[in-house]
Amino acid sequence: MDQYRVFGNPIKQSRSPFIHQSFAQATNQALNYEIHFAALDGFVKAVKEFIAQGGKGANITAPFKEQAMAMCDELTEHAKFSGAVNTLSFKNGKIYGDTTDGIGLVNDLLANGVILENSKLLLLGAGGAAKGVVLPLLNQNPKSLTIANRTVSKAKAIVEQYDNQPLLACSFDEANEQEFDVIINATSAGLTGGGVPIAEKLITTNSVCYDMTYGKTPTPFLQKAEKLNALKTIDGLGMLVGQAAESFYIWRGIKPSVEPVISKLKSSLSQE
Ligand code: ATR
Repeated sequence: MDQYRVFGNPIKQSRSPFIHQSFAQATNQALNYEIHFAALDGFVKAVKEFIAQGGKGANITAPFKEQAMAMCDELTEHAKFSGAVNTLSFKNGKIYGDTTDGIGLVNDLLANGVILENSKLLLLGAGGAAKGVVLPLLNQNPKSLTIANRTVSKAKAIVEQYDNQPLLACSFDEANEQEFDVIINATSAGLTGGGVPIAEKLITTNSVCYDMTYGKTPTPFLQKAEKLNALKTIDGLGMLVGQAAESFYIWRGIKPSVEPVISKLKSSLSQE
């Protein structure tokens, strides 16, 4: 049976085996997908061992996405721009790298009826998670995409990668003075406590608020958005399943449907 893995540290909490086994069942694909805990200094060795055992592909999660990129013989344009790889394929003695996080996000936004074309988008954060979604968001032809970050120089560095795009960088204070249709949280502020430093006036009854993370209860950013009666609040569960679906497609050439898996995950999260 074809073997796939997700490499990370930590990794025990990963939902990827559940998601991929669900896709495999739904599409009649015979495959096995397991978690692999790699030592912080042992990622490359672990992947090479897996390839030697005949592994067909792997997902890569924190903190190894940059190391995964460095291992690749060939990269897609998306992976090059994002500076990180979350999907590896092993074929003909070569390692192919791609990143599917951004497509997962865009597909989830569209599935939720969010209009991206000609909209003003605000991306909060300029770390790895933010970088990975910039190109797929730009490909939706927004009116503008503004990246706000605590360390503004990091947002500026992303903007400088792109030519002739409606892409801007600013501080949170500057973002707070503007209006946006869609606000996407790609910071880790909610995870580490403290919350995202945005002003209440940034979120109106016309705002779509998306958090790339998810949890049993709404994230602090989405709680704030709900309190301010945002038009829509969406967590990152659909993005998680969406990025997995794109990886599955890269490996198997079949696009699984995401809705049944999102529903199953939602109900299992609520019972935890
Ligand atoms: P990830 O891979 O999850 O993106 P990362 O690369 O460490 O992780 O990036 C974390 C992001 O969250 C950064 O944009 C960071 O802002 P800085 O670049 O200024 O560090 C942002 N972040 C983390 N904690 C934050 C906080 N308390 N307030 C605002 N932004 C925060």
